[in-house]
Amino acid sequence: MSWGPLQPARIDFSDGQAPGAPVFGDVYHPQAGAAGQARQVFLGGNGLPGRWAGRPRFVVLETGFGLGNNFLATWAAWQQDARRCDRLWYLAIEKHPPRPADLARAHAASAWPAQAAELLRQWPPLTPDMHLLDFDGGRVRLLLAFGDIAQVLPELIASVDAFYLDGFAPDRNPAMWDAWRLRQLPRLAAPGATLSTWNTASALRQGLQAAGFTVHTQPGQGGQREMTVGCFAPRFTPPVPPGRQPLAGVRRVAVVGAGLAGAAVAAALAGRGLAVQVVDRQAGPAGETSGNAGGLFHGVVHAQDGTHARWLRAAALHTARLLRPLLASRQVAGAVNGLLRGEQVLAAEAMQQLLATLALPADFLQVVPQGRGACWLYPDGGWVAPAALCAHWLGQPGITGRYGQAVQRLRRSPAGWQLLGNAGQLLAEADAVVLCNAADAQRLAGAGTGAGATWPLQQVRGQTTILPAGLSGAPGLPRPLADGGYVLQLADGRLLCGATSQRDDADPALRPADHLQNLATLARLTGWAPTLDPAPLGGRVGWRLQADDRLPLLGPLPDAGAIVSTVVGTVVGTVVGTVAANIGPRPPDQPRRVARQHGLYIFTALGSRGITQAALGAEVLACWLTGDPVPAPAALVDALDVARFTTRAVRRAARPPVWCGRLP
Ligand SMILES: Cc1cc2nc3c(=O)[nH]c(=O)nc-3n(C[C@H](O)[C@H](O)[C@H](O)COP(=O)(O)OP(=O)(O)OC[C@H]3O[C@@H](n4cnc5c(N)ncnc54)[C@H](O)[C@@H]3O)c2cc1C
Ligand SMILES: C[S@@+](CC[C@H](N)C(=O)[O-])C[C@H]1O[C@@H](n2cnc3c(N)ncnc32)[C@H](O)[C@@H]1O
Repeated sequence: MSWGPLQPARIDFSDGQAPGAPVFGDVYHPQAGAAGQARQVFLGGNGLPGRWAGRPRFVVLETGFGLGNNFLATWAAWQQDARRCDRLWYLAIEKHPPRPADLARAHAASAWPAQAAELLRQWPPLTPDMHLLDFDGGRVRLLLAFGDIAQVLPELIASVDAFYLDGFAPDRNPAMWDAWRLRQLPRLAAPGATLSTWNTASALRQGLQAAGFTVHTQPGQGGQREMTVGCFAPRFTPPVPPGRQPLAGVRRVAVVGAGLAGAAVAAALAGRGLAVQVVDRQAGPAGETSGNAGGLFHGVVHAQDGTHARWLRAAALHTARLLRPLLASRQVAGAVNGLLRGEQVLAAEAMQQLLATLALPADFLQVVPQGRGACWLYPDGGWVAPAALCAHWLGQPGITGRYGQAVQRLRRSPAGWQLLGNAGQLLAEADAVVLCNAADAQRLAGAGTGAGATWPLQQVRGQTTILPAGLSGAPGLPRPLADGGYVLQLADGRLLCGATSQRDDADPALRPADHLQNLATLARLTGWAPTLDPAPLGGRVGWRLQADDRLPLLGPLPDAGAIVSTVVGTVVGTVVGTVAANIGPRPPDQPRRVARQHGLYIFTALGSRGITQAALGAEVLACWLTGDPVPAPAALVDALDVARFTTRAVRRAARPPVWCGRLP
């Protein structure tokens, strides 16, 4: 379900002391200033900074990010604390995020000028997504969820240590204090979680008590007599669904495959201090499909704003955020300079209408004139050299590579998993394995584990063409063009165009006929049609692995035994009738309820969007594995979850038989 369309905040700055929100008839913080409230009510009310001392991770969840004052205060306190936690996660929900100019104005005289400037520098496009921003080298991570609390709170996957409840006054902003909303807090609360708020309404206190918090009041701040603090002390703790449990005590992880998926996963895990060993059958990183000289990344737009559009938008914005400093430092070739994409169905007016309906901001998407019509401009899109990106990710501290070794099968061991080579030799041993070996992952998941047999995957061959730099009449391309194919200019001036698309085609050779097809795409996109002998042209062949729903396969592998018994149980239940169906355990109707293999994960089937999806997919997987807050809504995680094929099978088996005979 989409959280959009998003309405940015309307902020009234006429009162020099406290900015106001005319829509709510309230101010963002007391007249006495934001700093005092942040320190006393939110940090102090949650026992911070003391409570995070010495911990590897501490998670704060704020309802109502507003202008970010509480975040800046918390981040500054963390920076100043010698006993701070290793990593601070700050999750925040906001229905009306401020536009950059308003955020800048609100912090013109900030109590935390350096932090405010950095927040502003990273402030994301205002799209209805989760945006993960890294500060202090990734030790402080801000996960901004732009949407209404009623929709966002049930979609969070996190274990929260401290809640900051900060809506506007309850009579003007009841949605933020609703008793049903508070019922979500126990699901998210870590053992010993605390909360605080300036709100002392008795209805709120009763709601919090009903949600399992012990609640009391403390002296208030900024003219308020009292404030409310609470501690999570539930009588009953709901179990974490089997598909969402992190892997306790994990230290070593083996990753099979050094393409975009494997390299991104390795970097995400190593960045958390885990020891990562990458094994690949090729002589070095990106030896197969990820080895192209360049490739595109960008979001998509769709009238329904469904799963696919939301996932690719969030993934593209995440990739741009990550790549921008990397490309600027010239460690990896590429550019985040925008991308133009043709529109095959809508006329210019309808495109504008769609933009307005979805309220997508201009820094994510614009309609720009092209010829007699219009095309889309993705300002945060661009191109990158995927092989160089893989090498960069795999060069991070904590990662070792073992190349030229094919993993033939997996074997469980007392320590976790063993990766065995062609002659049965031990290649690696780890607490957990992540399969990122594209089409071969399905075989490997089946060999020794029994999973993967029924994933509906397909391989699509593709060939790119590279034209030498400096050809007479060649257009200069400040940004890539895409429309049923693409063309981009590499850093050395060569043009890369592509790509063909052939199913059931295993030919690894470059084909002149495919080059001609790519040259035709080039002519269509740029109007330049060089007459060239295709035979000597350079290029590359690879295979896109894609699932039938065009989404990656991600997460812990389903337990094969559980799958069989569940499906059989469901069939028997359906046939024998409701009585039989009701005595067995409930078949898992959502991926999160499917039982999993211990320590065996997958990330593959990135289709033709590996660059766009690798980084965010890897983050989601790393968070899932380690128990960090997941930077994607639960519904999206379910949609990506490899166990979706198990629940599909269960649903299919549970469907009543259709009678196909002729009526008399
Ligand atoms: C022609 C073409 C153009 C494309 N253009 C774009 C584009 O512009 N933008 C974009 O985002 N995407 C593009 N793509 C898609 C993108 O390249 C893929 O999505 C991406 O490369 C997939 O990465 P991967 O890591 O999943 O797979 P791979 O790169 O195939 O990596 C899998 C790795 O696993 C290793 N491996 C396999 N089996 C074993 C085993 N048993 N033991 C050890 N190692 C093993 C392989 O050696 C390989 O290195 C294009 C694809 C093609 C074919
Ligand atoms: C008091 S302000 C928060 C101030 C903020 N904590 C700070 O440090 O600057 C309350 C915030 O709640 C947001 N809000 C109001 N209703 C909401 C809803 N239904 N869902 C999510 N956010 C909401 C408002 O837009 C506003 O930014």
